[in-house]
Amino acid sequence: MSYVEAASAPLRKTGHIRLHGPEAFAGMRRAGQLAAQALDLVHEMVGIGVSTEAIDKVVFDFAMDSGALPATLMYRGYRHSSCTSINHVVCHGIPNEKPLREGDIVNVDVTLIVDGWHGDSSRMFAIGEIPRRAERLIDVTYESMMRGIRAIKPGGHIGDIGAAIQEFVEPFHMSVVRDFCGHGVGQLFHDEPNVVHVGRRGEGPEMLPGMIFTVEPMINLGRPHVKVLSDGWTAVTRDRSLSAQFEHAIGVTETGVEIFTLSPKGYHKPVFGTPL
Ligand code: MF3
Ligand code: CO
Ligand code: CO
Repeated sequence: MSYVEAASAPLRKTGHIRLHGPEAFAGMRRAGQLAAQALDLVHEMVGIGVSTEAIDKVVFDFAMDSGALPATLMYRGYRHSSCTSINHVVCHGIPNEKPLREGDIVNVDVTLIVDGWHGDSSRMFAIGEIPRRAERLIDVTYESMMRGIRAIKPGGHIGDIGAAIQEFVEPFHMSVVRDFCGHGVGQLFHDEPNVVHVGRRGEGPEMLPGMIFTVEPMINLGRPHVKVLSDGWTAVTRDRSLSAQFEHAIGVTETGVEIFTLSPKGYHKPVFGTPL
């Protein structure tokens, strides 16, 4: 191994799941809290007539003021500080100058790098009054993520997460997107393991204390199938049905799970209160 390779070796995807120590958890806490604060700022400025470019600028400016770097900026040719996915956009929507309209639902996904650690989180925002089916979709998606997270404990398996999400979502006649998944996160943006949001209990790698990854289910009102538009990023539902997503970064602890990306202002949970 050359000198250069040796220097970058600890920061490469290795094909096995890293077990992180207390310094990593401390770093992820700081990065996760900053990402959550950025989303809290978005919460306070988003609304009718606001563009996704304006949202992206709030995230960029906050990152700069906080000594953080947006991980998506220049990532594989991506040029923005956030992904903004509106209505039938499943994920990786590119911010633009078009004003948001009453009835839109938008996911804002932010990853901030703080001292080398990646805080990755996303939430849904409702623009003015939204249709009841959009409220239900958002509530079901949030609850599915939380059920996935509550399935995390040492000795369990990664498949337990997808099983909890899938069996909660499908009775509502909504579907879980297969083409994108959660991922290990830490000093790498996208690391092992893949966290698929469907599955069967007991399948996949065993969860161990020190694992750090995201849970970020994308749920569609219609069919699960997606396609990527010609911009190379924007993923949309093939049937143009509405799609929603929430994302937390978590760590597996000795006793269960720690969520790194909870909102300091308590904004992470949607407010519609659909009886589930
Ligand atoms: N934040 C996204 C995730 O949850 C990744 C976005 S990559 C981008 O993994 F390039 F599309 F921004
Ligand atoms: Co992620
Ligand atoms: Co993300």
